[in-house]
Amino acid sequence: MGTSVSKRKKKILRRSLSRETDGFFNKFFDDMKSHDTRNSRNSKYSKHSSSINIKEPNELDSSHYVVQKLWDCDFKAPVKDILNAGNARVLDVATRKGTWVMQCAENFPWSNFTGVDVFPVFPTVTNIKLMNATFLQSNILKKLLFCDNTFDFVHMQCLTLFFTDKELENKVLKELIRVCKPGGWIELVKLDCNHLNQGPTFKKISETVIGYLSAHDMQPIIGENLSRYLTQTGQVIDIKEEIKIMPYHGNKLSKSCREQLIDNIQTYKGIFTTYMGYSYEEWDETLKILKKEVNDYKTEGIMRRIYCKKIIPIQESKSV
Ligand SMILES: C[S@@+](CC[C@H](N)C(=O)[O-])C[C@H]1O[C@@H](n2cnc3c(N)ncnc32)[C@H](O)[C@@H]1O
Repeated sequence: MGTSVSKRKKKILRRSLSRETDGFFNKFFDDMKSHDTRNSRNSKYSKHSSSINIKEPNELDSSHYVVQKLWDCDFKAPVKDILNAGNARVLDVATRKGTWVMQCAENFPWSNFTGVDVFPVFPTVTNIKLMNATFLQSNILKKLLFCDNTFDFVHMQCLTLFFTDKELENKVLKELIRVCKPGGWIELVKLDCNHLNQGPTFKKISETVIGYLSAHDMQPIIGENLSRYLTQTGQVIDIKEEIKIMPYHGNKLSKSCREQLIDNIQTYKGIFTTYMGYSYEEWDETLKILKKEVNDYKTEGIMRRIYCKKIIPIQESKSV
Protein backbone atom coordinates (compact mmCIF):
# COMPACT_ATOMS: atom_id res chain seq x y z
CA MET A 1 0.00 0.00 0.00
CA GLY A 2 2.76 2.41 1.08
CA THR A 3 4.76 1.67 -2.07
CA SER A 4 1.82 2.21 -4.41
CA VAL A 5 0.99 5.55 -2.77
CA SER A 6 4.56 6.74 -3.10
CA LYS A 7 4.72 5.58 -6.76
CA ARG A 8 1.51 7.45 -7.43
CA LYS A 9 2.87 10.57 -5.69
CA LYS A 10 6.00 10.45 -7.88
CA LYS A 11 3.89 10.02 -11.03
CA ILE A 12 1.76 13.03 -10.06
CA LEU A 13 4.84 15.09 -9.27
CA ARG A 14 6.44 14.22 -12.64
CA ARG A 15 3.22 15.06 -14.46
CA SER A 16 2.74 18.39 -12.75
CA LEU A 17 6.35 19.37 -13.40
CA SER A 18 6.10 18.48 -17.06
CA ARG A 19 3.05 20.66 -17.75
CA GLU A 20 4.53 24.09 -17.42
CA THR A 21 1.79 25.80 -19.35
CA ASP A 22 -1.11 24.59 -17.27
CA GLY A 23 -1.32 27.34 -14.68
CA PHE A 24 -0.87 27.24 -10.95
CA PHE A 25 -4.54 26.73 -10.21
CA ASN A 26 -5.04 24.01 -12.80
CA LYS A 27 -1.87 22.09 -11.96
CA PHE A 28 -2.70 22.22 -8.31
CA PHE A 29 -6.34 21.34 -8.89
CA ASP A 30 -5.58 18.39 -11.20
CA ASP A 31 -2.85 17.13 -8.97
CA MET A 32 -5.06 17.08 -5.91
CA LYS A 33 -8.09 15.77 -7.75
CA SER A 34 -6.22 12.83 -9.23
CA HIS A 35 -4.51 12.07 -5.93
CA ASP A 36 -7.59 10.34 -4.64
CA THR A 37 -5.81 7.99 -2.30
CA ARG A 38 -6.41 8.41 1.41
CA ASN A 39 -4.10 7.67 4.25
CA SER A 40 -5.65 5.55 6.96
CA ARG A 41 -6.53 8.56 9.14
CA ASN A 42 -8.66 9.94 6.35
CA SER A 43 -10.23 6.78 5.05
CA LYS A 44 -13.29 7.25 7.23
CA TYR A 45 -13.97 10.41 5.25
CA SER A 46 -13.97 8.66 1.90
CA LYS A 47 -17.46 9.97 1.16
CA HIS A 48 -15.67 13.13 -0.02
CA SER A 49 -15.02 12.60 -3.72
CA SER A 50 -11.96 14.83 -3.97
CA SER A 51 -9.20 15.60 -1.54
CA ILE A 52 -9.04 19.26 -2.50
CA ASN A 53 -11.58 21.79 -1.57
CA ILE A 54 -10.99 24.35 -4.29
CA LYS A 55 -14.46 25.60 -5.03
CA GLU A 56 -15.36 25.77 -8.67
CA PRO A 57 -15.05 29.42 -9.65
CA ASN A 58 -18.81 29.87 -10.04
CA GLU A 59 -19.23 29.07 -6.35
CA LEU A 60 -16.75 31.66 -5.12
CA ASP A 61 -17.94 34.94 -3.67
CA SER A 62 -16.85 38.06 -5.47
CA SER A 63 -13.50 39.35 -4.34
CA HIS A 64 -14.32 42.56 -6.21
CA TYR A 65 -16.41 43.81 -3.28
CA VAL A 66 -13.39 43.71 -0.93
CA VAL A 67 -11.06 45.32 -3.45
CA GLN A 68 -13.56 48.05 -4.30
CA LYS A 69 -14.26 48.90 -0.66
CA LEU A 70 -10.61 48.85 0.30
CA TRP A 71 -9.54 51.22 -2.49
CA ASP A 72 -12.79 53.08 -2.88
CA CYS A 73 -12.50 52.91 -6.66
CA ASP A 74 -12.65 50.48 -9.55
CA PHE A 75 -9.25 51.49 -10.99
CA LYS A 76 -6.45 53.99 -10.44
CA ALA A 77 -4.95 54.31 -13.92
CA PRO A 78 -5.71 57.77 -15.38
CA VAL A 79 -8.22 56.53 -17.96
CA LYS A 80 -11.47 58.19 -16.80
CA ASP A 81 -11.35 60.84 -19.53
CA ILE A 82 -10.70 58.25 -22.25
CA LEU A 83 -13.59 56.12 -20.97
CA ASN A 84 -15.92 59.11 -20.71
CA ALA A 85 -14.98 60.27 -24.21
CA GLY A 86 -16.45 57.01 -25.54
CA ASN A 87 -15.42 54.21 -27.92
CA ALA A 88 -12.58 53.14 -25.65
CA ARG A 89 -11.93 49.37 -25.50
CA VAL A 90 -11.31 47.83 -22.08
CA LEU A 91 -10.31 44.26 -21.19
CA ASP A 92 -10.70 42.55 -17.80
CA VAL A 93 -8.66 39.33 -17.58
CA ALA A 94 -9.70 36.56 -15.13
CA THR A 95 -13.05 38.29 -14.85
CA ARG A 96 -14.83 35.35 -13.10
CA LYS A 97 -18.42 36.56 -12.59
CA GLY A 98 -17.69 39.75 -14.52
CA THR A 99 -18.54 42.04 -11.61
CA TRP A 100 -15.82 44.55 -12.46
CA VAL A 101 -16.85 44.60 -16.15
CA MET A 102 -20.55 45.11 -15.37
CA GLN A 103 -19.81 47.87 -12.86
CA CYS A 104 -17.54 49.78 -15.25
CA ALA A 105 -19.81 49.20 -18.26
CA GLU A 106 -22.60 50.85 -16.30
CA ASN A 107 -20.43 53.78 -15.19
CA PHE A 108 -19.00 54.41 -18.66
CA PRO A 109 -21.86 53.63 -21.08
CA TRP A 110 -20.08 54.98 -24.17
CA SER A 111 -17.06 52.67 -23.94
CA ASN A 112 -16.83 48.91 -24.50
CA PHE A 113 -15.86 46.37 -21.86
CA THR A 114 -14.79 42.77 -22.43
CA GLY A 115 -14.21 40.19 -19.70
CA VAL A 116 -12.32 36.95 -20.29
CA ASP A 117 -11.90 33.89 -18.09
CA VAL A 118 -10.55 30.41 -18.65
CA PHE A 119 -13.82 29.05 -17.20
CA PRO A 120 -17.16 30.25 -18.65
CA VAL A 121 -18.45 31.44 -15.27
CA PHE A 122 -19.25 34.96 -16.45
CA PRO A 123 -22.83 36.07 -17.32
CA THR A 124 -24.35 34.53 -20.43
CA VAL A 125 -25.47 36.74 -23.33
CA THR A 126 -29.10 36.59 -22.21
CA ASN A 127 -28.17 37.78 -18.71
CA ILE A 128 -26.16 40.78 -19.81
CA LYS A 129 -28.40 43.82 -19.61
CA LEU A 130 -25.72 46.19 -20.91
CA MET A 131 -24.98 46.61 -24.61
CA ASN A 132 -21.36 47.58 -23.94
CA ALA A 133 -20.34 44.46 -21.97
CA THR A 134 -19.11 41.24 -23.58
CA PHE A 135 -17.61 38.04 -22.17
CA LEU A 136 -15.39 35.42 -23.79
CA GLN A 137 -13.71 32.23 -22.68
CA SER A 138 -9.96 32.58 -23.15
CA ASN A 139 -6.81 31.30 -21.45
CA ILE A 140 -4.10 33.89 -20.90
CA LEU A 141 -1.47 31.16 -20.48
CA LYS A 142 -2.09 29.96 -24.03
CA LYS A 143 -2.92 33.21 -25.87
CA LEU A 144 -5.73 35.70 -25.52
CA LEU A 145 -8.08 35.75 -28.49
CA PHE A 146 -7.23 39.33 -29.46
CA CYS A 147 -4.88 40.99 -31.92
CA ASP A 148 -1.88 43.01 -30.72
CA ASN A 149 -2.62 46.59 -29.62
CA THR A 150 -6.40 46.16 -29.25
CA PHE A 151 -7.31 47.74 -25.88
CA ASP A 152 -6.99 51.20 -24.34
CA PHE A 153 -7.04 49.74 -20.84
CA VAL A 154 -6.22 46.20 -19.66
CA HIS A 155 -7.17 45.24 -16.09
CA MET A 156 -6.65 42.13 -13.95
CA GLN A 157 -7.37 41.71 -10.25
CA CYS A 158 -7.17 38.95 -7.62
CA LEU A 159 -4.86 36.47 -9.26
CA THR A 160 -2.93 35.28 -6.21
CA LEU A 161 -3.51 31.54 -6.47
CA PHE A 162 -3.95 31.24 -10.19
CA PHE A 163 -0.50 31.63 -11.67
CA THR A 164 3.03 30.81 -10.58
CA ASP A 165 5.58 33.58 -10.31
CA LYS A 166 7.30 32.24 -13.46
CA GLU A 167 4.04 32.22 -15.42
CA LEU A 168 3.32 35.77 -14.37
CA GLU A 169 6.76 36.94 -15.48
CA ASN A 170 7.09 34.91 -18.68
CA LYS A 171 3.53 34.78 -19.99
CA VAL A 172 0.81 36.72 -18.22
CA LEU A 173 2.42 40.19 -18.12
CA LYS A 174 3.68 39.87 -21.71
CA GLU A 175 0.21 38.91 -22.92
CA LEU A 176 -1.44 41.83 -21.07
CA ILE A 177 1.05 44.21 -22.68
CA ARG A 178 0.66 42.63 -26.14
CA VAL A 179 -3.08 43.27 -26.33
CA CYS A 180 -2.79 46.82 -24.91
CA LYS A 181 -2.53 49.68 -27.41
CA PRO A 182 0.66 51.79 -27.35
CA GLY A 183 -0.11 54.64 -24.96
CA GLY A 184 -2.79 52.50 -23.27
CA TRP A 185 -2.79 51.51 -19.59
CA ILE A 186 -2.38 48.19 -17.76
CA GLU A 187 -3.50 47.70 -14.15
CA LEU A 188 -3.08 44.78 -11.74
CA VAL A 189 -4.42 44.25 -8.22
CA LYS A 190 -3.05 41.44 -6.08
CA LEU A 191 -2.97 40.21 -2.52
CA ASP A 192 0.52 39.23 -1.33
CA CYS A 193 1.08 35.73 -0.02
CA ASN A 194 2.96 37.16 3.00
CA HIS A 195 0.86 38.45 5.89
CA LEU A 196 1.57 40.74 8.83
CA ASN A 197 1.19 39.59 12.46
CA GLN A 198 0.62 35.94 11.74
CA GLY A 199 -0.27 33.76 14.72
CA PRO A 200 1.09 30.21 15.20
CA THR A 201 -1.70 28.43 13.27
CA PHE A 202 -1.43 30.75 10.28
CA LYS A 203 2.39 30.44 10.34
CA LYS A 204 2.17 26.66 10.32
CA ILE A 205 -0.26 26.65 7.38
CA SER A 206 1.94 29.09 5.44
CA GLU A 207 5.15 27.15 6.06
CA THR A 208 3.55 23.83 5.09
CA VAL A 209 2.06 25.26 1.91
CA ILE A 210 5.30 26.97 0.88
CA GLY A 211 7.21 23.69 1.48
CA TYR A 212 4.70 21.72 -0.59
CA LEU A 213 4.61 24.22 -3.45
CA SER A 214 8.37 24.58 -3.76
CA ALA A 215 8.67 20.76 -3.86
CA HIS A 216 6.30 20.94 -6.85
CA ASP A 217 8.18 23.81 -8.52
CA MET A 218 5.14 26.06 -8.01
CA GLN A 219 6.36 29.31 -6.51
CA PRO A 220 3.32 31.49 -5.86
CA ILE A 221 3.40 35.04 -7.18
CA ILE A 222 5.71 37.30 -5.19
CA GLY A 223 4.01 40.70 -5.08
CA GLU A 224 7.28 42.59 -4.63
CA ASN A 225 8.47 41.26 -8.02
CA LEU A 226 5.61 42.67 -10.07
CA SER A 227 7.01 46.14 -10.76
CA ARG A 228 10.43 44.70 -11.56
CA TYR A 229 8.97 42.22 -14.05
CA LEU A 230 7.02 45.02 -15.72
CA THR A 231 10.15 47.20 -15.93
CA GLN A 232 12.15 44.29 -17.36
CA THR A 233 9.79 43.96 -20.33
CA GLY A 234 11.08 47.35 -21.53
CA GLN A 235 7.60 47.97 -22.94
CA VAL A 236 5.98 50.02 -20.19
CA ILE A 237 6.65 53.32 -18.43
CA ASP A 238 5.14 55.40 -15.61
CA ILE A 239 4.88 52.37 -13.31
CA LYS A 240 2.99 53.33 -10.13
CA GLU A 241 2.49 51.06 -7.16
CA GLU A 242 0.15 51.58 -4.22
CA ILE A 243 -0.30 49.38 -1.20
CA LYS A 244 -3.30 48.94 1.11
CA ILE A 245 -3.42 46.95 4.30
CA MET A 246 -6.23 44.42 4.33
CA PRO A 247 -7.33 43.96 7.95
CA TYR A 248 -8.71 40.60 9.05
CA HIS A 249 -9.75 41.99 12.43
CA GLY A 250 -12.27 44.59 13.46
CA ASN A 251 -15.05 46.20 11.46
CA LYS A 252 -17.53 45.08 8.79
CA LEU A 253 -15.07 45.26 5.90
CA SER A 254 -12.63 43.10 7.90
CA LYS A 255 -15.29 40.42 8.13
CA SER A 256 -15.44 40.23 4.32
CA CYS A 257 -11.62 40.28 4.17
CA ARG A 258 -11.51 37.44 6.69
CA GLU A 259 -14.05 35.42 4.70
CA GLN A 260 -11.98 36.00 1.58
CA LEU A 261 -8.87 34.80 3.41
CA ILE A 262 -10.55 31.66 4.73
CA ASP A 263 -11.88 30.96 1.22
CA ASN A 264 -8.34 31.25 -0.15
CA ILE A 265 -6.92 29.04 2.59
CA GLN A 266 -9.57 26.39 1.97
CA THR A 267 -7.72 25.84 -1.30
CA TYR A 268 -5.02 24.09 0.71
CA LYS A 269 -7.32 21.58 2.36
CA GLY A 270 -6.04 18.91 -0.03
CA ILE A 271 -2.41 19.40 0.97
CA PHE A 272 -3.26 19.05 4.63
CA THR A 273 -5.67 16.13 4.41
CA THR A 274 -3.70 14.17 1.81
CA TYR A 275 -0.06 14.96 2.43
CA MET A 276 0.01 16.14 6.05
CA GLY A 277 -2.27 13.45 7.44
CA TYR A 278 -4.95 15.78 8.78
CA SER A 279 -8.46 14.40 8.96
CA TYR A 280 -11.24 16.59 7.55
CA GLU A 281 -12.37 17.26 11.13
CA GLU A 282 -8.86 18.41 12.12
CA TRP A 283 -8.72 20.69 9.12
CA ASP A 284 -12.11 22.25 9.90
CA GLU A 285 -10.99 22.74 13.50
CA THR A 286 -7.75 24.39 12.28
CA LEU A 287 -9.77 26.87 10.23
CA LYS A 288 -11.98 27.67 13.19
CA ILE A 289 -8.86 28.40 15.27
CA LEU A 290 -7.44 30.47 12.43
CA LYS A 291 -10.59 32.60 12.18
CA LYS A 292 -10.26 33.53 15.85
CA GLU A 293 -6.50 33.81 15.70
CA VAL A 294 -6.40 36.43 12.88
CA ASN A 295 -8.70 38.54 15.01
CA ASP A 296 -6.67 38.10 18.22
CA TYR A 297 -3.29 38.68 16.55
CA LYS A 298 -4.62 41.53 14.40
CA THR A 299 -3.36 39.79 11.27
CA GLU A 300 -3.31 41.86 8.08
CA GLY A 301 -2.82 41.22 4.39
CA ILE A 302 -0.97 43.41 1.89
CA MET A 303 -2.81 44.33 -1.27
CA ARG A 304 -0.95 45.89 -4.20
CA ARG A 305 -2.27 47.93 -7.08
CA ILE A 306 0.17 48.48 -9.91
CA TYR A 307 -0.52 50.41 -13.06
CA CYS A 308 1.62 51.49 -15.99
CA LYS A 309 1.49 52.84 -19.52
CA LYS A 310 2.52 50.95 -22.66
CA ILE A 311 5.31 52.71 -24.50
CA ILE A 312 4.52 54.36 -27.83
CA PRO A 313 7.31 53.33 -30.23
CA ILE A 314 9.35 56.37 -31.38
CA GLN A 315 8.29 56.10 -35.05
CA GLU A 316 4.61 55.97 -34.05
CA SER A 317 4.85 58.87 -31.60
CA LYS A 318 6.53 61.07 -34.32
CA SER A 319 3.75 60.42 -36.81
CA VAL A 320 1.03 61.30 -34.25
C1 LIG B 1 -9.99 35.07 -7.89
S1 LIG B 1 -10.75 35.01 -9.43
C2 LIG B 1 -10.66 36.70 -9.97
C3 LIG B 1 -11.92 37.39 -9.72
C4 LIG B 1 -12.20 38.69 -10.35
N1 LIG B 1 -11.09 39.29 -11.07
C5 LIG B 1 -12.73 39.60 -9.26
O1 LIG B 1 -12.03 40.54 -8.89
O2 LIG B 1 -13.82 39.34 -8.75
C6 LIG B 1 -9.56 34.34 -10.48
C7 LIG B 1 -10.13 33.96 -11.84
O3 LIG B 1 -9.03 33.66 -12.68
C8 LIG B 1 -9.48 32.73 -13.64
N2 LIG B 1 -8.31 32.13 -14.30
C9 LIG B 1 -7.45 31.24 -13.77
N3 LIG B 1 -6.51 30.90 -14.67
C10 LIG B 1 -6.79 31.60 -15.81
C11 LIG B 1 -6.20 31.65 -17.10
N4 LIG B 1 -5.14 30.92 -17.38
N5 LIG B 1 -6.73 32.49 -18.03
C12 LIG B 1 -7.84 33.23 -17.75
N6 LIG B 1 -8.46 33.20 -16.53
C13 LIG B 1 -7.95 32.40 -15.57
C14 LIG B 1 -10.28 31.77 -12.79
O4 LIG B 1 -11.16 31.01 -13.57
C15 LIG B 1 -11.01 32.72 -11.83
O5 LIG B 1 -12.29 33.03 -12.30
